[in-house]
Order: sequence, then C-alpha cells, then structure tokens
Amino acid sequence: MKIIRVKDDREMSKQAARRIIEQVRQNPESTLGLATGGTPEGTYKELIKDYQENQTSYKQIRTFNLDEYVGLAPDDPNSYHFYMNQNLFDHIDIPSENIHLPNGLAEDLEAECQRYDDLIAELDGIDLQILGIGENGHIGFNEPGTSFQSHTHVETLTESTREANARYFESLRDVPTHALTMGISTILLSREILLMASGEHKAEAIYKLFYEDVDEQMPASILKTHDNVTLIADEQALSRM
Ligand code: GLP
Repeated sequence: MKIIRVKDDREMSKQAARRIIEQVRQNPESTLGLATGGTPEGTYKELIKDYQENQTSYKQIRTFNLDEYVGLAPDDPNSYHFYMNQNLFDHIDIPSENIHLPNGLAEDLEAECQRYDDLIAELDGIDLQILGIGENGHIGFNEPGTSFQSHTHVETLTESTREANARYFESLRDVPTHALTMGISTILLSREILLMASGEHKAEAIYKLFYEDVDEQMPASILKTHDNVTLIADEQALSRM
C-alpha cells in the first residue's frame, strides 16, 4: 500500500481529486467507484471546481456507489443518492443513466444485490474506487466480521456505525438499521483503490490497519492484499503511527 501523508483534510481532498481528474482525462470512459460520508466531501468540491474551471467532462463516465441505506428513497435528504446529487452529480455533466447506486427501496433486496454485482461485472468493473474508513475499520458498510468473500449484500449496521452517522439525521432513532453495500470481494475487484482518512477519530483505525493482521474483524485490513491501493491520510489520522 502506498501512503501519501498530507497536512490536513483540505490537502487530502486535493490529492484525491487530482488522481480522479487524471483518470477521467486519460480515460473519459472510466468507471468510478464512489463513497459518501464526510471524508470525500472536500474531494467532490474540488471536482466541481475543476469542472467549472477546466471543463473536465463526465459525459461518458460511469459511477457505482459503495452503499445505500435500506428504506430510504433517492429523494430522501438522508439517502446516499441524495447526498451524491447534492455533493457532485447535480454540478457536473454526468448523464443520470450513468449513475448507479444500490436501490434501498427494492422489494427483493437479495435480487437487487445480485443485479448490482452483475451490472458492475457487465460494465467491465471499476477502474478507480474511492474509499473512506469507518472508526471500527469498516469499508463501504462492511462491518467487522463480514466475510472477505462477500459480494454486494444487506448489512446490519452496528450501533457504533449508526451513532457515527447519526449526525446526519434528526436523531439516532432515524438512522436506518440496515444498508445495501458492495461486498469486500466486490471492492477488491476494483483495479485501483484510493483510501482516504482525515482527523484524529480515524487514527486508531489507521493504526490497526497497519499493525494488525489481515482479519475479518478489521475489514479494511484486506486492502493490504490488493496491489494498487493508495492511502491518502492527514497528520491527525496518521498520528498513532
Ligand atoms: C460510513 C459510510 C462509509 C464511509 C464511512 C466513514 O458509514 N458507509 O462509506 O467511508 O462510514 O464515514 P466518514 O467519512 O463520514 O467518516
């Protein structure tokens, strides 16, 4: 795993955006894997700024998001689909038919997971996957204990993850208990992965990622077995190293 150490969240966002823009310009038909949460917000702002200033086009780019809450509609302000529209898609020229997120409202969630994996495979996989890391080491919504062989699936969220994400909701009670997430093996199929971390609250997860064994109790640890992963982390996130 390559490590890029940066000063702060702003620098992390810029570095990640630079790599994404390079990918989009070199291969305008790329497939990007996208993440939500606080971590990539600054990166998306940088992409929008670059789009406005340099007209980098996303007309032929396809995207697959990592995850979506079960039970939330795309126009629900707390859904990841809404987050993506607000933070990125509404501001660039990507056609809506090129945007993919798991459907958290699907009647048959198992079939929806299968459809999502099949579609990723049909479109020849993900070229560049953006990842954040949960405080407990989760990636996407793959909580500790998830099989490294997992495909896209329904995940029961841990209380700590629900609490960490409650800041986006009116109360903890409103945070869904389940989510659809790309599985670990889905994520590992990406040809390149950018893992981002900023802030003191990520320091323990980053420490464990490096100093503990590859273990299903620490989902992100599997990234050490992938041959094209770059961690972009700020000083606070690296403070326990
Ligand atoms: C959330 C998301 C993940 C994200 C992680 C960290 O639960 N499902 O995709 O990477 O937790 O979130 P944040 O970036 O807000 O710290």
